[in-house]
Amino acid sequence: MTIKSSKLIQNVRYEIRGTLAKRAHELELKGYEIISLNIGNPGLYGFRTPESMRLAMIENLESSEAYCGQKGIFPAREAVVMQQQERGIKGINAEHVFIGNGVSELIDLTLRALLNPGDEVLIPSPDYPLWSAATSLNGGKPVYYPCPKELNHHPDINILASLVNKNTRAIVLINPNNPTGAVYSKETLLAVAEIARKNNLIILSDEIYDQMVYPGESFVPMATICQDVLCATFSGLSKVYRACGYRVGWVSFSGEIIKGKGLLDSMDLLAALRLCSNVPGQWAVQTALGGSQSIKKLCSTNGRLFNTRKVITNLVNKSEYLNYIEPSGAMYAYISIDERAFPGIDDQDFALRLLEDEHVLIAPGSSFNVPDKNYFRITLLPEEDIIYRVFKKINKLLNKMLS
Ligand SMILES: Cc1ncc(COP(=O)(O)O)c(C=O)c1O
Repeated sequence: MTIKSSKLIQNVRYEIRGTLAKRAHELELKGYEIISLNIGNPGLYGFRTPESMRLAMIENLESSEAYCGQKGIFPAREAVVMQQQERGIKGINAEHVFIGNGVSELIDLTLRALLNPGDEVLIPSPDYPLWSAATSLNGGKPVYYPCPKELNHHPDINILASLVNKNTRAIVLINPNNPTGAVYSKETLLAVAEIARKNNLIILSDEIYDQMVYPGESFVPMATICQDVLCATFSGLSKVYRACGYRVGWVSFSGEIIKGKGLLDSMDLLAALRLCSNVPGQWAVQTALGGSQSIKKLCSTNGRLFNTRKVITNLVNKSEYLNYIEPSGAMYAYISIDERAFPGIDDQDFALRLLEDEHVLIAPGSSFNVPDKNYFRITLLPEEDIIYRVFKKINKLLNKMLS
């Protein structure tokens, strides 16, 4: 008899590191060179963590041998408070901040503290799939509100409002968005806040790409407009500070904090059960959040991420079969394949063929919990010459599929 695993896992998917990624690894072991564009891991593409953060960690290694408090070290939490205060967020203090092993751990912890079986969480479609997975794993039900291409991948507010019922507990926002790169306007955020206020919901705002915005765009932190709504803001060192491997993220609670007392106590208990998060990495937070923000240069005119985005836009525009909404923020391109030219296209099959025939690994759109089957996502992280090579290969496959 086999040992069965939890039934809760059956609905959980994380295709970004799933079957295709495993197949890519097999091909690599056979000696093939795979171009991997499936995952937003800046360190893999030559981006470095700012040196000052490395030094802050190294200098404090001696103070990192013991467990710290479950919420995280005080200087890191205080640095998050100061950043939020500078943004105009009121009434926040270090007691409202939890440091975790990446935003990933805190998404799970927060949903575990919040949900009862059958509770519903409103999640954007497309989403970052951990939000769906962690909702299901904690007994909740993901309910998707569309962020369609016709609305430049911004939330459809009318549908969002219509999905609220007596079981709804939370609205998840991912802004700037992974995978679409949409950056939401203040009006959109105000409308979402109003739905939350009317229906006594908590807003879970995943802002891990908060300073990754391209020229002409501006990012509005959700907490700045959530005065009478409880808002949990998630961010971390992985993307803006290119330190995925440090495994440091934080969640800060603000707005109608009085409503969140029971939730914060439950978070504290769950955080205590796992003792504390990785201590050395936490020493880099204060250095990261203070002083100059090197990500700005990478995203501004002629910065590396700006340039890659420009190349992708040119290549998509040139292609007969590809289309996308140019990302306003984050570090991904969410590209559609023309269904009129490729009726019945299946994104998983397309991605598998691209991997087998052309040795390029992409993330199929359906990894992000969308009904469409004609999308894929690539990262903006590689050097421009790799992007040119990849598009050549994509076009070669599309032409092959037509012939
Ligand atoms: C939207 C979003 N949230 C959270 C995470 C997880 O980040 P972390 O490395 O902090 O766990 C990612 C990682 O790609 C992400 O894209």
